[in-house]
Amino acid sequence: MGEFVKSTDTAGQGKNLPRHIAIIMDGNGRWATRQGLPRTAGHKAGAETFRRIATYCKNLGVQYLTVYAFSTENWKRSETEVSAIMTLLKKYLLEAVDTMEQDHIRLRFLGDMTPIKPELRALARQTDEISDHLAPGDFQANICLNYGGRDEILRAVRRFAADCAAGEKRPEDLDDALFSGYLDSAGIPDPELIIRPSGELRLSNFLLWQCAYSEFYFTDVLWPDFDEAELDRAIAAYRARDRRFGGVKK
Ligand code: FPP
Repeated sequence: MGEFVKSTDTAGQGKNLPRHIAIIMDGNGRWATRQGLPRTAGHKAGAETFRRIATYCKNLGVQYLTVYAFSTENWKRSETEVSAIMTLLKKYLLEAVDTMEQDHIRLRFLGDMTPIKPELRALARQTDEISDHLAPGDFQANICLNYGGRDEILRAVRRFAADCAAGEKRPEDLDDALFSGYLDSAGIPDPELIIRPSGELRLSNFLLWQCAYSEFYFTDVLWPDFDEAELDRAIAAYRARDRRFGGVKK
């Protein structure tokens, strides 16, 4: 599986670089099990891969990177695993608070933060505030936490219905642009490219509204082994696609 496009170290050069790449960081558990390590070691390695790929995206000139860190369904996992993921997030956020301003990295969370522990929510608020001081054109990493595409759409619908009930909006006003503004991703362009490593060929409730015209790239590589060369391959595959958005080729 995967697309056999020659790796290139020039992914950032030339035209047609995706402005927004979204990644389902899958395969951490299998990576750890194959090495005889606990699943949590896979998430630790996966978090380092996130750091590396985010840096690479920023250097290439990709403006937005969205990653699926924890889904609305991931609470079904053991308490040990859930708390290990939350602890990792905390560690990276603490680090981000100290470095994002000098590195010009904006951070935003997508998902329902209500069940997230107060300490982590406070850190997310802090990174939000720092992001507000950075330039809108600076690189932005979006972390999907307690995120589900259906949940995001339902919460948006509830907010829109409440605005209608309050007389602030009318049902007939609703169109694509207005609805997008009610989503967690308001103001962020839709991803041109969605990547899923680890050989799974499904979307798993990720960016259901935003993926309408995204290109997909699947690879068997497990997320902790995903590297710059693999991202180059995904971008090269994207560039070779014929995007027609429902129209015909000119
Ligand atoms: C999917 O692999 C991965 C997750 C559910 C967690 C991802 C979280 C991190 C990488 C850590 C924190 C993130 C950041 C941004 C610092 P899986 O466990 O489902 O793998 P498997 O399918 O092989 O079991």
